[in-house]
Amino acid sequence: MITCSAPGKVYLFGEHAVVYGESAICCAVELRTKVHVEKNDDVIIESILGTTGPDLKVHPYVTHVIEMMKSLTDLRGVRIRIESELPVGSGLGSSAAVTVASIQALNHLLSCGLSPEDVAKTAHEIEIRVQGNASPTDTYVSTMGGVVMIPQRKRLPLLKCPIIIGNTNKFSSTKELVGNVAKLRSEFPSVIDPILSNIGQMSILAEELVSKNDYVTIGKLMNVNQGLLDAIGVGSAELSDLVYAARNSGAISAKITGAGGGGCIVVIAEDKDTMRIVKAIEDAGGEAIITKNTEEGVRLESFNGRR
Ligand code: MEV
Repeated sequence: MITCSAPGKVYLFGEHAVVYGESAICCAVELRTKVHVEKNDDVIIESILGTTGPDLKVHPYVTHVIEMMKSLTDLRGVRIRIESELPVGSGLGSSAAVTVASIQALNHLLSCGLSPEDVAKTAHEIEIRVQGNASPTDTYVSTMGGVVMIPQRKRLPLLKCPIIIGNTNKFSSTKELVGNVAKLRSEFPSVIDPILSNIGQMSILAEELVSKNDYVTIGKLMNVNQGLLDAIGVGSAELSDLVYAARNSGAISAKITGAGGGGCIVVIAEDKDTMRIVKAIEDAGGEAIITKNTEEGVRLESFNGRR
C-alpha cells in the first residue's frame, strides 16, 4: 500500500480574480488530505462521503484521476481510501488536495515517473473537467507547498504570524460561485473588471510586504480585498459575522478565503491575540482552527509499510 498526502491552502489575496489571469497570493497550510492506494481487482473509492466504484457524483475528482491513469497505464482496479483534515466544500482546497494526493499515490503505485510539474498540471486539468473553470492556483500550491504568487509561480517567504481559519460550516460550491462571478461580469463588465484588476493589484503590492514581514500593511490590504469580494457577491451573512468577530477581537485582518458563499475566513494575527480571536469566532457561531503555512506540498507518507 502507498500513502501520499497533500496540503490545503488559504488565499491571502486574489481568489476569483486569479480565474481571469489576475495575480493571487496563496499559502499551503498544515492541514492535509491523505490518500492510501493499493492494487485491487475492481475500483473501490472510500471516503467520508461513502464507498463507491467510479462515481462522478460522489467522488468526481478521484474518478477522473483513475480514468486519466487508466489512459496512461495498464491500471485495471485499485482500492483508494481518503482521510482528510480538510472539510469538503469549505474553501480550504480539499478538492485540489485529494486530486493531487491521488495522482501522486498512483504515480508511485504504477511507477509512472510524473514530475511535480506533471502532477500539478494533471490535477489542474481534472479541476477544469469537474468545475468547468478553475485557475491553477489550488492544485499548484497543494503540489508544491509554500507561499506562492500565481500566475507568476513565484515563491515568497512563509508568514511567521499565526493563521487562524474560521469555518462557517456552510458548504459552498466553487463551481457555482465561479459561475455567479462570471455571470455578474458578463452583465457589468465595466464595473466588475476593474474590481478584479484592483484585487490583482493588491497581490502585486503585497509581494514585497510578504518579503518584509509587514503584516500590518498586508492586513490593511487583505481587509480591502474582503470588501471587493463582498462587492462581487461571494460574501454571506455568516462569513461577515466571522470576519467582524475576528477583527473586533484584535485580528490584524480577516477575509474570506476560497470561493466564498459559505466555507471559511482566513485571519492573520499576533500570537498574543490568537486565543481571544478563536473564542470570538466560536461565539459568532463558527469553528476556529489555528494553523500555520508550510513549505511542504504533496509528499509520500509510506511505501509498502515503510515510512
Ligand atoms: C477557489 O479555491 C479559488 C477560486 O479563485 C477558483 C479558482 O481559482 O479556480 C474561487
